[in-house]
Amino acid sequence: MLEQLQELRARAARALDEAVTAEQLEQWRQEYLGRRGALTVALRGLGQLPADQRPAAGRIANEVKTSLEQAYEARAEAVRQAALVEELARGALDVRLPGRPQSVGYLHLSTQTLREIQAIFSQMGFQVLRSGEVEDDATNFQLLNMPPDHPARDMWSTFYLNVPGLLLRTHTSPGQVHAMRRYHPESIRVILPGKCYRYEQVTQRHEFQFFQVEGLALGHGITMADLKGTLVNFARQMFGAERRLRFRPSYFPFTEPSAEADMDCIICGSKGCPLCKYTGWLEILGCGMVHPNVLRGGGYDPDEYSGFAFGMGPERIAMLKHGISDIRTFFANDLRFLQQFA
Ligand code: DAH
Repeated sequence: MLEQLQELRARAARALDEAVTAEQLEQWRQEYLGRRGALTVALRGLGQLPADQRPAAGRIANEVKTSLEQAYEARAEAVRQAALVEELARGALDVRLPGRPQSVGYLHLSTQTLREIQAIFSQMGFQVLRSGEVEDDATNFQLLNMPPDHPARDMWSTFYLNVPGLLLRTHTSPGQVHAMRRYHPESIRVILPGKCYRYEQVTQRHEFQFFQVEGLALGHGITMADLKGTLVNFARQMFGAERRLRFRPSYFPFTEPSAEADMDCIICGSKGCPLCKYTGWLEILGCGMVHPNVLRGGGYDPDEYSGFAFGMGPERIAMLKHGISDIRTFFANDLRFLQQFA
């Protein structure tokens, strides 16, 4: 009988070690400690022993019972802990991990570039002025020296509103007219950033929507030297102190003379490479001295006042600066692109 009990204890202990789930543990409890369990059966068997063997056998049987109950409790606790650990590993909240960072957002690359441009011109005393995206024909064209049948209008086809004579501005140049109306007869030094639209085929280099930054400086005795100095300073702050500009004669109806400003290539330093198409130069903006007709339209007497103006595309500036080859990426809302400039 004693041997049986010891053997039962050893068997139960081994079985208990193998119980890893709550179900297996319950099964074990029924099998050994339950009402029809092995130990209960063994205890019942004590009654059949000769009287002189009963006390010793009873003591051992009680010891086995206590030790199995204790082992069961310990095992049950271990199984509960293991289940908890597993639950945590799998589960919704693992307090050991750092929290997920909140996405705080960032500025679009066009906005970042606009702000950089604004900061540079602010240092040179330019105010930032805004005007609307919806313009009338007179302000977008006529007051900029483009009468209704002017051939230069072909370069600026746009979207028209249902209201006759209203359109989405094709450039920020009409902002010059607003600035003159607003500040006449004071001197003016403003930049006008904003969105422009054109009825264009969308390609790698052309968008139907884009930003521009217009500049206008108007006063007594302003010359082309001021224009050059201002733009060279801008290019050096934007692209590096060693930059050089070249002014190439061009044509715009609202400036006379007109020029296109080219910057020495930032990749090859004007030796010739794929970026500058082996010309050594990158076109960055259009500019010129404000045409007398434009001054007159704004109420400024061209015999007394002179001024310079320029217009640039910040997307183009950003493309050069960051080596971006497709303007469509600016407006495609693909975060894989935009996040590179976070
Ligand atoms: N408005 C012109 C365009 O969209 C750019 C421009 C050229 C603006 C010369 C100017 C300027 O103020 O003087 O192509």
